[in-house]
Amino acid sequence: MRRRDFARLIALGGSAALVPRNVFAVPPLAPTPQQPDERFWRTVRDQFLMPPDLAVMNAANLCPSPAPVLEAVYRNTKDIDADPSFDNRQKMAAGKDETRRLVAAWLRVTPEEIVLTRNTSEANNLVSSGLDLKSGDEVVIFSDNHPSNNEAWKTKSKRFGYSVSVIEQPNPHPGADFYVEAFTRAMTPRTRVLAFSHQTSTVGDVLPARELCRLARERGIFTLIDGASALGFMDLDLSAIQPDFYTGSAHKWPCGPKEVGVLYLNERAQRALHPSIISAYPGAVGSSRTLEAMGQRDEPAIIGFGEAIKFQNGIGLKAIEARSRALAQALITGLDRIDGVHLWTHPDPSRSGTIVTFRPGNLDVRKLAAALYQNDRIGCATRTGQDRPGIRLSPHIYNTMAEIDRAVSAVATYMRQGVS
Ligand SMILES: Cc1ncc(COP(=O)(O)O)c(C=O)c1O
Repeated sequence: MRRRDFARLIALGGSAALVPRNVFAVPPLAPTPQQPDERFWRTVRDQFLMPPDLAVMNAANLCPSPAPVLEAVYRNTKDIDADPSFDNRQKMAAGKDETRRLVAAWLRVTPEEIVLTRNTSEANNLVSSGLDLKSGDEVVIFSDNHPSNNEAWKTKSKRFGYSVSVIEQPNPHPGADFYVEAFTRAMTPRTRVLAFSHQTSTVGDVLPARELCRLARERGIFTLIDGASALGFMDLDLSAIQPDFYTGSAHKWPCGPKEVGVLYLNERAQRALHPSIISAYPGAVGSSRTLEAMGQRDEPAIIGFGEAIKFQNGIGLKAIEARSRALAQALITGLDRIDGVHLWTHPDPSRSGTIVTFRPGNLDVRKLAAALYQNDRIGCATRTGQDRPGIRLSPHIYNTMAEIDRAVSAVATYMRQGVS
């Protein structure tokens, strides 16, 4: 379908609030300049549906998809629904394997090592359910992992009899050496798995992934890295990090369709992992032949993930990482200057990435988030409760420096005046 047709369809079907911008009339992105400036990043932003006045900084939770991804999902969905015969749908399997090829190249690994899952949660659980673990075995987890990792390991330990030990996460980030030491101390001859996050979704702490994988590998221990908050912003080279398992979601920083994810696993891990779901329609190569037979999938969404990777490749992975980090650093610098704001995120870019979390003095976090959204059109996430409470801002390539300034200045105003 041509962009113009899609634009007409959207115009007919959507309310102004639902479809605020006609991204399908926007020309494709121009090549990234050597030194991408704000003008270039505004053209990136133009590829997204969000209206110009809305600044959503919640990439750690869910990212929007740019026009080429939306278009690919719709085009392929329409194709299937116009002719759902096996004969017509055959090509979707090829599309799925093309996404696998793109994901593999993007992560610098092979298509044989890629399983396309529904999300990070599913990928993490395929690992915790699929390894042979028993009484006497031990799994080392990191306290700041997502529940799809930690709660899953703990729950399954009751069934399979292995024990779980937890590495605590001090705040602020104590530096890579702290984690190297802490994980080294925690590993025993009984340890079978080390499960940690590349960047934590809570406050954006980055762990020394490559070093931790090396330490585990030397001891014959499997590593599971939850990359949900790294995949799509970091220029990742899994062939250098060498994890056994690495997981992520397309619908976060890669800006892909919802409910598509990835499980990377190397050859050793493939030999050790039993499939948890056994059904029809596997992938064509390597681990996907056994681990991806999950029944009917949303192939247009999986193909859309491939489009998201092409979109990222078009901009350049180094440029994306540099931009995301620059946005986060600008937030950190601005917020740090505001009286009463306490940053939970470490300002050193070797310890943090693109997630910035802070306590806004004594302001009520829910009220502040509501005010930011309603008055200032800034979307954020809240952390309520006792554990590093506050506001989380996680900007990405569709945000501009002007939006960062707006967020900082709005927080400064509420810190002075309060929120009602
Ligand atoms: C670090 C981390 N792991 C896993 C998940 C779960 O991701 P999904 O909901 O895509 O399965 C999240 C979601 O926020 C996350 O931040």
